[in-house]
Amino acid sequence: MQQTLVLIKPDGVQRALVGNILARFEARGLKIVGMKLVQVNRALAEEHYAVHQGKFFYDGLVSYITLSPVVALVLEGHEAISVVRKMVGVTRPWEADAGTIRGDYALMGLRNLIHASDAPETAKSEIALWFKPDELHAYARELDKWVNE
Ligand code: PPS
Repeated sequence: MQQTLVLIKPDGVQRALVGNILARFEARGLKIVGMKLVQVNRALAEEHYAVHQGKFFYDGLVSYITLSPVVALVLEGHEAISVVRKMVGVTRPWEADAGTIRGDYALMGLRNLIHASDAPETAKSEIALWFKPDELHAYARELDKWVNE
């Protein structure tokens, strides 16, 4: 099973969309194996977005994620990385398909509600950045046999 890091960004928390977004992932069959509310400081923001340093939107991206708490999640499931990216939708919310999280709840530029890891190596490093090993929990759910078999 794959694991992926998801951040419900400050606009998602401020707009009270956390429950709604979580419900979508749970209904899809993804399992929450880590979850916490984090007030992101500049150092964590800069490390998380280090790959984008030097791009014209980098400063805005770092400021945006520190505006208000985020919900950090590790989701687990079959092909979780690509499944979650498809559920999130493309970067620019006004171009995101209806039925995706961004396509249903976001509209403009920076305010795209959610971050999700884009590849297995990124997921691994992002999970290690945001979660200590003892904050991740392996557990069985009764429903897994109906989702995964
Ligand atoms: S890139 O350049 O292709 O790697 O960019 P992309 O993967 O699409 O996006 C990387 C993160 O930067 C955010 N982003 C932007 N923010 C503000 N303005 C502009 N123009 C912009 N372009 C990209 C984008 O939302 C990604 O953040 P996360 O948190 O990963 O979604």
